[in-house]
Amino acid sequence: MDGSSATVETTGTTTTRQAPKIKVRAMGFPFREAGIPRHWFMGSPHLTHLSNALQLLFPAGEQFFIRSVKHYEKQIDDPELRARIRGFYGQEGRHGHEHERFFKVLEEQGYELESFLAWYQDLAFGKLEKRVSPAMRLAITAALEHFTAAMGRNALTSDFLDEAHPIIGDLMRWHAAEEIEHKSVAFDVFMAVDGRYHVRVIGLFAALAGLTRFWAEGTKHFLREEAKMGTDLKAAAKAARENPRLQLERKRRAEMFRNAVLEYLRPSFHPDDVDDYELARSYLASIGRLDG
Ligand SMILES: [Fe+2]
Ligand SMILES: [Fe+2]
Repeated sequence: MDGSSATVETTGTTTTRQAPKIKVRAMGFPFREAGIPRHWFMGSPHLTHLSNALQLLFPAGEQFFIRSVKHYEKQIDDPELRARIRGFYGQEGRHGHEHERFFKVLEEQGYELESFLAWYQDLAFGKLEKRVSPAMRLAITAALEHFTAAMGRNALTSDFLDEAHPIIGDLMRWHAAEEIEHKSVAFDVFMAVDGRYHVRVIGLFAALAGLTRFWAEGTKHFLREEAKMGTDLKAAAKAARENPRLQLERKRRAEMFRNAVLEYLRPSFHPDDVDDYELARSYLASIGRLDG
């Protein structure tokens, strides 16, 4: 089997880590040709914009992850981890690229993105990033990677994305699978160069606060844009509240975040404790992209 393997102790039981080799895949999703409607997720503006807003955070966020790891790259001697770091840069770069290609479609649909992106990038990376130590930036990155892997697992184990426009469903599933593939890279770098538990925990809560704030602001931005287009948001919100499928998914998401926080707080936690590499592998195999 491809990848690194190490036997580790986790809460009294012994498991075998099997981080896969990280392959970079150029996807080139046909967003423009696909005729994606404005409300591409269950016809719901709220659900669509929750997802659109998350996507707005990715490209600049992923560049931050790359910078955070790059700062310490020279201190890493292990050739296997160095190879995974390179794969991680490549995958995150491709994710940002594909989401930015989708942004063009959103702009063609009439949404203004620039003012939100300028505000988010200036606050998160122009101001906050500069005030935080390199170790804390890496801890925040490791925590955000833990969340993206948890969201990825959620995406690949639920049939919820079947309700999305198929091309966006494909985009999200591909991103989900690769987040699982490289989920332990930033964590392993953090443990190799710092590893202090309290830094890891502060990074977790800073990551949670940042993600929550910027995701909420992005969603509000889209809903303001939607209101300008004359959409009846009150009726849409009522429909969303009363939709049992959406209620279930909301519950599932809240539970997923709660569990992700709790497992990360365990002092002996390692991302490979959660056995989901096979989940990513089988999805990538199903689209014929397991090997790149
Ligand atoms: Fe990513
Ligand atoms: Fe990632």
